[in-house]
Order: sequence, then structure tokens, then C-alpha cells
Amino acid sequence: MKHNILAPSILAADCAVLGEQIKAIERGGAKYVHIDVMDGVFVPSLSFGIPVVSSVRKVTDLKLDVHLMIIRPLKYVRSFAEAGADGITFHYESEDDPEEVIRAIRESGCKVGMSIRPDTRVEDVYPYLDKIDMLLIMTVQPGFGGQTYIRESTMRIAQAANYVAANKLDCDIEVDGGMTADTVRIVIEVGANVIVAGSAIFKGDAEANCKKYVAILDQTQKGEVL
Ligand code: DX5
Ligand code: ZN
Repeated sequence: MKHNILAPSILAADCAVLGEQIKAIERGGAKYVHIDVMDGVFVPSLSFGIPVVSSVRKVTDLKLDVHLMIIRPLKYVRSFAEAGADGITFHYESEDDPEEVIRAIRESGCKVGMSIRPDTRVEDVYPYLDKIDMLLIMTVQPGFGGQTYIRESTMRIAQAANYVAANKLDCDIEVDGGMTADTVRIVIEVGANVIVAGSAIFKGDAEANCKKYVAILDQTQKGEVL
């Protein structure tokens, strides 16, 4: 079984004290830092870019999980890798050819993630699941933190997890958006193992919130961890 991993999203952090917030999630037991990159085109918002990834790289050894919500990921893969990303996730719905983006991320030395919006059919990404390390299933519409989990996501996560298991693929299933103590249990139950949480971690005491979620992830861990 894959390890359950908590990936706090710094979109909800106080960027004036970002270094301290990252130290807090380290103490709280997080393993990844999820960094949302938005271009104002693929999604309406703007957020972080390459300099933020470089700055975060300097203050932590946690894995940097970069989520590109941008129309042309290919153009920026190398820059994010050089800035210190450990994993780069692009959107299947972006304008670049998925095979090319996968190849570019692989060549950059980063783990390869592919993401789908809530309205994209899970079957559409089956042909890529043996070529990527992680499938990110958006559980809200990408672009904003603090939204409510879309209930239909549960079936989609189960569908992807069942396909991965049936085909003995080595692919993590990450979920992103609307995570609470309740929804985390639901998504893990159906097969997600990497949990992105923004508001749930950074609203209030980030260290204490991380500990609470790590405890849930440990309790719900399925089977023996490989
Ligand atoms: C949304 C981003 C998320 C966001 C999640 O487009 O991809 O990572 O930060 O925020 P919460 O956990 O508040 O729903
Ligand atoms: Zn994200």
C-alpha cells in the first residue's frame, strides 16, 4: 500500500511569514509543500511563480509539489525544476500535448503529475497512467482555495484508484480542494493517498492542524506500507 501523505497548500498561508509557516508544517508532520501556480488564463486567478518555488526551496527539505494551473506548461517545466521542484503536475486540459509535457517533466528529473478538472472524464487519462507518478483529481474547480468538496468526486477517485489497482500501476492518487476532517476520510476510503489541504491547515494554528490531519491519515492508512 502507498503511504498516506499530507501536502499543505501554501495558497492559504500568510506569505508575509511564509518561512515560519513552512517550519510549522514541518513540525506538524507534513511531507510535501503544495505550491499552486496560476496564470490568470487557465484559471481566473494569479498566484505564485518560479521565484516563490526558489525561495521555498531554500528554507525546507520537504518535497515541493508544484501544481501548474497554466495553459502552456511545457514552456516552464525546466524553470520550475531548476527552481527546486520535486514533482511537477500539469493539467490534462492545458493546451500542450500531454505526452510531450510528461516527457519534459521526466527529463527535468522531477516526478510527473497530471491533473484533471472535475468535469473531465477519468477514462480520458487511462492511457497516461502508466507513464506518470501521480494523478491529481481536482475535488473543486481549480482556481480558488476555500471551496466546498464536490460530492461527485468520490466516484471519480474510486474509479481511478480501481483502475490503478486492477492494472497494477505505480501511480499515486492526489486530491485537492475542500478537504476537511470528514472529506479526508471519504477520499482515503476510496483510494486517494496524497491529500492537499489549504484552508484546513493554514486557517489557525498550522502545526496543530497538520498534526490533526496526519493523525487521521495514519489512522486510515490501509494495509502495510511498502
Ligand atoms: C485550488 C488549488 C488548491 C487550493 C485548495 O485551485 O489547487 O490547492 O489551495 O484549497 P482548500 O484546501 O482551501 O480547498
Ligand atoms: Zn493545488
